[in-house]
Amino acid sequence: MSQPSRRTALVTGASAGIGVSFARVFAAHDFDLVLTARREDRLRDLAGEISARHGVAARVVVADLSDPGAPARLEQELAEAGVAVDALVNNAGFGLPGKYVETTWEQQAQFIQLMVTAYAELVHRFLPGMVARRYGRIVNVASVAGLVPGTPGHTLYAASKSFLIKFSQSLALETRSKNVHVTAVCPGFTLTEFHDVNQTREMMDRMPKWVWLDADRVAREGFDGVMTGKPVVVNGALYRSLVFLARHLPQGLVFRATLKQSRRYRKP
Ligand SMILES: NC(=O)c1ccc[n+]([C@@H]2O[C@H](COP(=O)([O-])OP(=O)(O)OC[C@H]3O[C@@H](n4cnc5c(N)ncnc54)[C@H](OP(=O)(O)O)[C@@H]3O)[C@@H](O)[C@H]2O)c1
Repeated sequence: MSQPSRRTALVTGASAGIGVSFARVFAAHDFDLVLTARREDRLRDLAGEISARHGVAARVVVADLSDPGAPARLEQELAEAGVAVDALVNNAGFGLPGKYVETTWEQQAQFIQLMVTAYAELVHRFLPGMVARRYGRIVNVASVAGLVPGTPGHTLYAASKSFLIKFSQSLALETRSKNVHVTAVCPGFTLTEFHDVNQTREMMDRMPKWVWLDADRVAREGFDGVMTGKPVVVNGALYRSLVFLARHLPQGLVFRATLKQSRRYRKP
């Protein structure tokens, strides 16, 4: 009897951190992979490791998703190779520290392109195939920052994550009857290269150890959430409690407490 063909998961930002963990979780559940980011050497090492361990196919596509043409090229390359995307993990990202007025528009435009437009566009490009095949799993990696009040510094970061949460909730309702599940995964502080890339590691090292999440756990909970059709997953009991309090305590108090805490970890 011939083996039924495997489903394929496309993971963006698969060269580090949470993206690597998502790639490993999907492979462990027998998905073939398409791994994308800018650092090809990292992607090839991961593809080799995952194929050897799980016996799945892992294709590498190098792309800079802050380039507006990148999502269309990615879709075309996969279509030409006959690869159908059954699961999409929209994860690539970075933080832009500092005040809005002290950054250039080019920096902010690149941020929006990667963190908002590319996420929405990749979903828009791969969703029709998922609907037609009556199977789809979409993860948008958002953040607890999208669920608590905005703070000074990293100005568009929380806004971009709020966007992903609302987007995921609405889309989940549109597509659930087609067996396409959409989930916004909302981690709190997670041990990855994120704070090295945006040069806030020294500041972040002052945070107590117990606030940090492990990337593998974030990915495992995200995978379980999307498979069971949860529109929003907040990772870890600590962050679930914080989100609960932010929703239910008087908003003035929540605002002042968030602002006070943010001075410990945000570079305004
Ligand atoms: N770490 C946290 O505390 C935390 C908390 C909440 C949410 N998040 C979110 O989690 C997601 C993953 O971040 P992480 O913590 O895993 O950070 P990370 O370790 O720095 O990984 C970021 C990934 O995004 C990719 N990437 C960055 N810019 C890109 C671009 N222009 N084009 C294509 N790929 C790009 C990077 O690959 P290349 O550099 O090779 O391109 C890398 O694979 C982000 O959306 C972030 O906002 C993180």
